Amino acid sequence: MVSSIPAARRGELWHDYVCFDPETQVRNSREFAQRMAARRSIRRFAHEPVPLEVIENAIRAAGTAPSGANKQPWFFAVVADPGLRAKIRIAAEQQEHEFYEHRASDEWLNDLKPMGTNASKPHLEDASYLIVVFAEQYGIDPETGEKRTNYYVHESVGIAVGMLVTSLHLSGLGTLTHTPCPMRFLNTLLHVPRRFRPFVLIATGIPERPVMLPNLTKKSLAEISKIY
Ligand SMILES: Cc1cc2nc3c(=O)[nH]c(=O)nc-3n(C[C@H](O)[C@H](O)[C@H](O)COP(=O)(O)O)c2cc1C
Repeated sequence: MVSSIPAARRGELWHDYVCFDPETQVRNSREFAQRMAARRSIRRFAHEPVPLEVIENAIRAAGTAPSGANKQPWFFAVVADPGLRAKIRIAAEQQEHEFYEHRASDEWLNDLKPMGTNASKPHLEDASYLIVVFAEQYGIDPETGEKRTNYYVHESVGIAVGMLVTSLHLSGLGTLTHTPCPMRFLNTLLHVPRRFRPFVLIATGIPERPVMLPNLTKKSLAEISKIY
């Protein structure tokens, strides 16, 4: 009887699954880790055009992310328009001045020293695109207009942003994750309903050469993992 089959086992045959032998699994994972080790946050961008399709494909990839009960609680606003980017920069730099001069603790400012950051955010205008990622706090039933719960919103959107940044990096673009705080001005400037909370702002484009980066190290495998 069909009804006795657990819901999780009902569904369609999955034709896209690709099975690799163990050697290929190791090679693929090693190559991927090496390519990801070359990702760094980029704070200076060249004025070089980037096809919009690269951004759309990165969002397509992010949109495949797992999410609580498949609610897909994300929205990606792509800002290419220079006038709008200038407005975003002005509003973001206002928040940044507040942050650097009043809100940030001494510990936080000290932790930021290696990054060499300050309240000036030229990347908001220089990068080819800004992608503002919004987290949908709750859904709206299209038929009844009632509120619908979204589950594990932060976790789901965090995974999607990881996939977005990964796709942009593997396409040869630099990215900067930027979080002006508070970010609600982005709802106003982009006319996005307030049930969508700004999550991160990703500036992306071709890095300015030569690429200058803060000298940071990443924790080792032994520091961040343990096999039980
Ligand atoms: C949630 C989040 C917020 C961040 N906010 C900022 C920011 O506001 N300004 C900035 O310059 N970098 C920001 N960064 C970038 C971090 O400083 C950077 O990822 C970190 O120093 C590690 O460097 P890497 O990305 O080159 O590995 C942010 C990163 C994350 C994940």
